[in-house]
Amino acid sequence: MIEVYPISNSGIATAITRLRAGDLVAFPTETVYGLGADATNASAVAQIFKAKQRPEFNPLISHVASPDAAFELGTETPIATSLADAFWPGPLTLILERKAQCPVSLLATAGLDKIGLRVPAHKGAQLLLRKFCKPLAAPSANPSGQISPSTADHVIDGLGGNVGFVLDGGPCESGLESTIIDCTGQKACLLRPGGITREAVAIALSEAGLDPTITINKPLNSMTNPISPGQLTSHYAPRATLRVAAEKWQRGEEMIGFGKIHGAGKLRLNLSPSGNLIEAAANLFSMLHAADATTTEKIAIAPIPNTGLGEAINDRLRRAAAPRPDFGNNTFQSIR
Ligand code: TXA
Ligand code: MG
Repeated sequence: MIEVYPISNSGIATAITRLRAGDLVAFPTETVYGLGADATNASAVAQIFKAKQRPEFNPLISHVASPDAAFELGTETPIATSLADAFWPGPLTLILERKAQCPVSLLATAGLDKIGLRVPAHKGAQLLLRKFCKPLAAPSANPSGQISPSTADHVIDGLGGNVGFVLDGGPCESGLESTIIDCTGQKACLLRPGGITREAVAIALSEAGLDPTITINKPLNSMTNPISPGQLTSHYAPRATLRVAAEKWQRGEEMIGFGKIHGAGKLRLNLSPSGNLIEAAANLFSMLHAADATTTEKIAIAPIPNTGLGEAINDRLRRAAAPRPDFGNNTFQSIR
């Protein structure tokens, strides 16, 4: 049975009891829902990989309540300090060198010597982290490779009996996962575009007197050793096929519009009739879920401009539309 609690004193207290017992707790953040476990408890972290059927090479972000807590786990660099000052708490994940005394389980960081850290701003996530007093390892709370959840219902529909406890904080505000920046090199390196735009990152670096150049990791086609597996070519995939940059509806499609290009099919969805990219980002995953739930075999989506948050939206759409990998035995292990 899945227990669903609102964000309340008793909801948070029960969530903490579950986490201390090594169980999983799905919780809201301002980006998407996370599937959380005590990051210092390897068998709790193992449950995450099992519940999501996530490949074990794919490291998890550790969530903490404050920048100070983050820099206890990963080594601060000038790039990291400037971005933490500008965007934490918020939809930003920093990749830092793992400190020698870092208590996060090696399974959570997939054996890498770097750790992904995030300080979420969501009130419920903050309450949970402050009360738990330990890092929470949490990927998006969806089966691996599928659409990220922006409501508690998406979590329950996707993971079903694989998650016992969900804290329901209503729909997520941003709906796009965090921007991931590797801060360990001479220049900031964008591993995944997300809720904070590349332009905003460059401004923050430059205001801190640092080099505002942002290098970009080339997307990798390999399933076996991606630098940031959010870069897998096929990811965020709905069950139906997806046609992107669609100007016109084609027969049999559930078409999601944007701006002046209308939605069509059963639901006639539109990411943002006014062409607002923030609204479109917030609606993206819910509308993909809703279109998929009509049991259509084909989803189409109108063109999205590639500026600002559009970069992250188009990144997700490209991966959602990519040919699906063959999840054969060699590339997709589950923990028993
Ligand atoms: O908004 C978000 O980031 C959400 C919420 C729940 O915080 N989380 C999320 O987690 O999207 P997930 O696991 O679905 O995506 C995290 C990405 C993965 O692509 C993973 O490979 C990358 O972060 N990542 C985590 N730790 C890393 C590390 N040490 N080095 C490189 N990439 C890392
Ligand atoms: Mg994910």
